[in-house]
Amino acid sequence: MDSAGWDARYEASELVWSRGPNQFLPPLVEGSKVGSALDLACGEGRNAIWLASQGWQVTAVDFSAAGIEKGKTLTPDDLQNRIEWVVADLVDWEPGHTFDLIAVFYLHLPTAVFSSVLERCVSWLAPGGRLVAVGHAVRNVAEGVGGPQAPEILWDDDLFRPALADLVVTECAERLRPVDGEPRAAIDFVVNAHRPDNE
Ligand SMILES: C[S@@+](CC[C@H](N)C(=O)[O-])C[C@H]1O[C@@H](n2cnc3c(N)ncnc32)[C@H](O)[C@@H]1O
Repeated sequence: MDSAGWDARYEASELVWSRGPNQFLPPLVEGSKVGSALDLACGEGRNAIWLASQGWQVTAVDFSAAGIEKGKTLTPDDLQNRIEWVVADLVDWEPGHTFDLIAVFYLHLPTAVFSSVLERCVSWLAPGGRLVAVGHAVRNVAEGVGGPQAPEILWDDDLFRPALADLVVTECAERLRPVDGEPRAAIDFVVNAHRPDNE
């Protein structure tokens, strides 16, 4: 979907995603030393706002101006100066500095495009910096529930492993996510990896 499509989606309802952070984010960052964070494809900013509330200084990027506007509106006054909102296409956006944490949640792009974004994203990790990523798994189409139905934009081990070669990988695997009222769980793909301190 292009940015106009995402704008229309965000404008059509009060909130497309949850108000609080994605359920996987707090445990994934637990124990990390707070510093600078990048929320890549932040949407309405649920994860960026939560990270800011935990003391992170956040850069939140998305190509949907409508999503970013919502994020700004939803941010409590006392956190406004903790989040820099950026409307940009990740295909060619460059931050110009590194981050202690990069979060990528449910960003689904054609494989070649995603691989290129991911490779650049890993290069923006500071020494010791952590990458946490959650998305719909390829296997979710046939065996899970919900999410995009195009396997070519979904996540699996083959998609991530090349970009993670220089990182310490704690997790790069599927996780089941129970869905209310559904007999089958959704199948997500979760990555938790960090750049060694001494690089
Ligand atoms: C499924 S939503 C997830 C939003 C957010 N990460 C969350 O979990 O709440 C995917 C987001 O990716 C953004 N997106 C998709 N392609 C993009 C691109 N090329 N550049 C920047 N943002 C993009 C969309 O605008 C949308 O907000």
